[in-house]
Amino acid sequence: MKLPNNVTVLDHPLINHKIAMLRSAETKTKDFRELVEEITVLLTYEAFRDIPTHTVKVKTPLESCDQQMVPDNAVAVIPVLRAGLGMVSGVHVLFPTAKVGHIGMYRDEETLEPKEYYCKLPDGVENMRAIVLDPMLATGGSACAAIDMLKKRGCKDIRQMSIIAAPEGVEMLAKSHPDVKVYIAVMDRGLNENGYIVPGLGDAGDRLFGTK
Ligand code: PRP
Ligand code: URA
Repeated sequence: MKLPNNVTVLDHPLINHKIAMLRSAETKTKDFRELVEEITVLLTYEAFRDIPTHTVKVKTPLESCDQQMVPDNAVAVIPVLRAGLGMVSGVHVLFPTAKVGHIGMYRDEETLEPKEYYCKLPDGVENMRAIVLDPMLATGGSACAAIDMLKKRGCKDIRQMSIIAAPEGVEMLAKSHPDVKVYIAVMDRGLNENGYIVPGLGDAGDRLFGTK
């Protein structure tokens, strides 16, 4: 598939190495959680590349200089429950002051349609860059619904950060929200008959929280 312009796939040996461990059915909950965090750190580095900065004066031991910094309330990350929660600590490793909003959503097992059950966003989110966190971008339904909710709240600068994506999800997102830049660690082959990404890693929420 030809990638839409707004999609960045972080094709990098270190990420691919970690993805191999993440995919493995042998990987246990603790390691899975740590890998999700580590991959998110690497995604964050890329997704923050064009974050607006401001200039501050810094006095080094030798002289004063102008230096760029990211304002404290520049970014809100919005994990989609449950699996997006596993990515929050990875963002905070690099940018500890990122505010956190939560969107609760699950896929109906039959229709694969997203069902919303919770939304709590930081005050002033409409003036921040809002980064939706969800390790799995499968049909794209959950990502599109989460972004719809953010746009309804007035957000104008929205990004999506996912670890594994299917072409179907990337296409749907690019079509529904062409203004949203998408950062993914790896693109997979597609979806199986149950809407799971293949080869994928299985159910991200269950693997993160040990619920199966
Ligand atoms: C998973 C995943 C995404 C969604 C992706 O959540 O974390 O939110 O599915 O699928 P889509 O692109 O087809 O919408 P799930 O519904 O399993 O909820 P959970 O994390 O609470 O288990
Ligand atoms: N949600 C998951 O957790 N895994 C998939 O492969 C698809 C949706």
